[in-house]
Amino acid sequence: MKKDIENRKDINFLIQYFYNKLKNNQNMSVFFENTNFEQHLPRMCEFWDFIIFSTPNIYKGSLMPIHQHLHEKLPFSIENFQTWVDNFCETADTFFEGKNTETAKQAAKDIASTMKYKILGNLGRKFDFKVE
Ligand code: HEM
Repeated sequence: MKKDIENRKDINFLIQYFYNKLKNNQNMSVFFENTNFEQHLPRMCEFWDFIIFSTPNIYKGSLMPIHQHLHEKLPFSIENFQTWVDNFCETADTFFEGKNTETAKQAAKDIASTMKYKILGNLGRKFDFKVE
């Protein structure tokens, strides 16, 4: 039986593993070529700390404008969002199980859906994520 995501150490592990996978994915690596992970990983972990444990005031970024800006420089496709969600859920399922793990996967899908609609407009709305 796997353990649940229980603390910040678990989040750090999950998020580091996940972004390593994305960096090595042939359709996603291009987006991360200029990303300084030493700088960004802590922020990504703070975001998930807020989502999973509702830790107040921990994430100070602005998720949607950052991605809107990235998309303007190098456009995201419908498939990129599906790949992002698939890799996140696969990574979570490989190492963890339980209530917090389900919360994280559901949040990943919900936030990716919102981001997809905001960034791709009607095109995004026509394609829902496949349910495993
Ligand atoms: C097509 C899908 C996506 C792509 C290609 C993508 C790409 C990126 C990249 C390249 C960065 C680093 C920004 C930089 O180098 O300045 C980043 C940051 C981040 N992404 Fe995404 N992303 C995607 C979807 C998502 C989704 C669905 C979420 C949340 C559920 C998310 C959460 C974050 C967070 C929290 C950060 C850190 C932002 C900050 O610095 O405050 N991303 N993303």
